[in-house]
Amino acid sequence: MLTVKNIHQYYGGSHILRDVSFEATLGKVTVLLGRNGVGKTTLLKSLMGLVPIKSGSIELEGKPIHKATPYDRARAGIGFVPQGREIFARLTVEENLRMGLAYKSGGTPIPAELFELFPVLKQMINRRGGDLSGGQQQQLAIARALAPKPKLLILDEPTEGIQPSIIKDIGRVIRMLADRGDMAIVLCEQYYDFAQELADDYLVMERGEVIARGLGKDMEAQGVRQLVAI
Ligand SMILES: Nc1ncnc2c1ncn2[C@@H]1O[C@H](COP(=O)(O)OP(=O)(O)OP(=O)(O)O)[C@@H](O)[C@H]1O
Ligand SMILES: [Mg+2]
Repeated sequence: MLTVKNIHQYYGGSHILRDVSFEATLGKVTVLLGRNGVGKTTLLKSLMGLVPIKSGSIELEGKPIHKATPYDRARAGIGFVPQGREIFARLTVEENLRMGLAYKSGGTPIPAELFELFPVLKQMINRRGGDLSGGQQQQLAIARALAPKPKLLILDEPTEGIQPSIIKDIGRVIRMLADRGDMAIVLCEQYYDFAQELADDYLVMERGEVIARGLGKDMEAQGVRQLVAI
């Protein structure tokens, strides 16, 4: 679904991403791990087109997308859940979900399935985003990204600052979406146990480089827990 080849990215003179290559496959969760500041968010933003890459390529279903705008990448089927959620605090839950459909043709309904995945959003449909708890906001951010039915879902640290019961719910949804087989998922996570439970494939970054990769089931044996321990 997603093929990233040899990408390099700079913020001014700082070389942040160094020759990063990986793939994300339909039906699988690819987990991206790494300590603070190693370039995880920069990598995810470069997939979405929110930061430009200097060289390398990004392909979605075999088509190069690295020169496309974020808007066009969303239209091509990428859904993005940013770190810190970035929901619209002054808009209602319903309006936030509609924002996820903004580039679809007018009148595209909010898929009812989103409320099955996250029942709390139905109860809170007229509440303002800013009045939800952190966990509810995270569920809203995920639902907003799912609204246009992406083929690739990118999540940047969805468990950050969230209570355990909601982390469990979010984990169940991620697994279920992957198991349906029509979506590839890239999940950046610092919460090791959550990452390990969901990972079909994993990548570990350090200082902008991928320093380890493999199958999720081998993470423990390959010492990934120690690699990312703070
Ligand atoms: N807009 C920016 N301008 C300049 N430097 C930046 C910018 N955003 C991030 N950086 C730097 O790039 C590096 C990678 O940051 P990034 O946010 O990608 O890391 P991260 O792995 O997502 O960290 P965290 O785990 O804290 O979210 C850091 O050194 C950071 O200070
Ligand atoms: Mg980050």
